[in-house]
Amino acid sequence: MTENNADDRSLEALLEYLKQSRGFDFTGYKRASLKRRIRKQMQSCNIENFSDYLDYLEVHPEEYLPLFNTILINVTAFFRDKKAWNYLERQTIPHILREKSENSPIRIWSAGCASGEEAYTLAMILAKTLGVEKFRDLVKIYATDIDEEALTEARHATYSIKDVQPIPEEMREEPSQ
Ligand SMILES: C[S@@+](CC[C@H](N)C(=O)[O-])C[C@H]1O[C@@H](n2cnc3c(N)ncnc32)[C@H](O)[C@@H]1O
Repeated sequence: MTENNADDRSLEALLEYLKQSRGFDFTGYKRASLKRRIRKQMQSCNIENFSDYLDYLEVHPEEYLPLFNTILINVTAFFRDKKAWNYLERQTIPHILREKSENSPIRIWSAGCASGEEAYTLAMILAKTLGVEKFRDLVKIYATDIDEEALTEARHATYSIKDVQPIPEEMREEPSQ
């Protein structure tokens, strides 16, 4: 068995252990970034290989939190990935509106919403497309995340000046009453 193969197997064993012991299933994640992030956390414990790290987790349950925080990075922003948002606004939403009857509801799910910017971006785009009143009547946006701290931030919806920079100027203004 080559060193790389052994490394890959011990990573898979670690992922299986996290799934069984804590119910967190990372097996569908891209291996390259998973390895990079787990290694980063291992370094802070001076551990070099995945199987030693599994042993370490068994006796140090306090290690789960920093590990999960490292894996579940909450990178997000308003209108992050402009190309995808443009496509959603110009293609997907008009398609949804064409296919549904005028007053039927629209339900949207932001799965992995981090601190909420994605869900609020959806709200802004829908409100712009439908008009605020219709938006309020018809649209429900659900937002979930595995990370409770990120969800708390999302619920508070308090963002810095820098955070709101990517929002188009006209959407940042308060609506006139
Ligand atoms: C990189 S952020 C992306 C946030 C947002 N969707 C965006 O594109 O701007 C990924 C988010 O997904 C969450 N996440 C990762 N795995 C998850 C899972 N299995 N269930 C729910 N949320 C998850 C993380 O906690 C993190 O907040």
